[in-house]
Amino acid sequence: MNQPRSSGNDQTSADTVLVTGATGYIGSHTCIELLASGYDVIGVDNFDNSEAVVLDRIAELAGRPIAFAELDIRDTDALRKVVAEHQPAAVIHFAGLKAVGESVAYPDKYWSVNVGGTLSLLDAIADSAVTKFVFSSSCTVYGDPAEVPVNESTPVAPISPYGRTKLTAEEMIRDILSTRDCSGLLLRYFNPVGAHESGRIGEDPVGVPNNLMPFAMQVAVGRRDSLSIFGDDYDTPDGTCVRDYIHVVDLADGHVAALKALDATDTCEIVNLGTGTGSSVLDVVNAAGEAVGTPIAHQVVGRRDGDAAIVFADTTKAEAMLGWKAERTMADMCRDHWAWQSQNPNGYE
Ligand code: NAD
Ligand code: WQD
Repeated sequence: MNQPRSSGNDQTSADTVLVTGATGYIGSHTCIELLASGYDVIGVDNFDNSEAVVLDRIAELAGRPIAFAELDIRDTDALRKVVAEHQPAAVIHFAGLKAVGESVAYPDKYWSVNVGGTLSLLDAIADSAVTKFVFSSSCTVYGDPAEVPVNESTPVAPISPYGRTKLTAEEMIRDILSTRDCSGLLLRYFNPVGAHESGRIGEDPVGVPNNLMPFAMQVAVGRRDSLSIFGDDYDTPDGTCVRDYIHVVDLADGHVAALKALDATDTCEIVNLGTGTGSSVLDVVNAAGEAVGTPIAHQVVGRRDGDAAIVFADTTKAEAMLGWKAERTMADMCRDHWAWQSQNPNGYE
């Protein structure tokens, strides 16, 4: 275990956190917030969907580096060596595959990484010093919810292989942690967008973006001609779908709050991480245009299969259990996403 180190905030001792998927979009922002809160980080990633240069940017922004090992989380022996060397007290498990459409085409890959990889990780930390486990789950497990806002008791009904792997991983984690001296939080994120306010790190999708904000920002920067809005005939105020967009730095802060909350519980709980506010596709397109300074070119096309009309979170449990609430506005999300996209028009190069 690392020696406790004083820090400039309420974190009194620096525990080491193992962060899987550390160089990915949410992982990289969380590493920075963990370092700022006095934790030490050992990150792992196989760079399947991220770049090594992210490690330099984390060090630049945080003022100190994370320790890092390049590995595939399905390599249990490699993970076990990392755990033995760094003796983490907690794990935040981001590593995984997240593209809904790809999961339909390659379900075997998704079950292997998202479920097999999670089992490998749980195996690697068995009999270790890890007493806190945080998992990146997704609002996708709710499918098309009958009622909003969505709380943690809303029935789950994932409609893609991706969603089913997330739900299965949740159940597996809960079963296995129940046999160990290890508490857990299964965090169901809504729609993360934005970037570190410096614009030095951000989301860098491979190929054509599946998600709304990255696509809109690639239009703004000239990489794409026009955004297709998937349907304006939904039963919503302006006819376009409504989602709960959350700034990635608020989400990262939610993970720091989660680690602290895990000190006070010995259970494994599900918590939604969203803002509690719904924004329509047109709201996002308009806010993005404001941030960029010119409108985002767009046209309305037909609905995309599988899209729910309205999804947003009930944040009551997150506020009560984590003492955490998202603070950043849609304008902040668009400003910071644009800072990233405009400074890095082609992503990490
Ligand atoms: P990301 O793709 O940017 O990050 C995931 C990281 O995991 C990448 O750096 C990738 O290289 C790494 N990785 C993938 N397979 C690996 C393997 N076998 N071994 C080691 N590393 C591996 O995605 P993100 O947006 O940062 O998402 C992080 C987590 O949050 C994922 O589990 C995702 O399912 C979940 N999540 C994301 C969203 C979202 O919209 N971004 C929403 C809900 C949940
Ligand atoms: C948002 C809205 C689209 C692109 C996804 C995953 C979910 C979770 C969060 C990981 C929808 C519309 C989009 C475009 C559009 N991720 N849209 N034109 O589908 O709410 O959730 O990310 O766990 O699992 O499914 O996010 O950004 O794809 O779409 O009109 O080019 O924008 O129809 O209404 P979604 P999204």
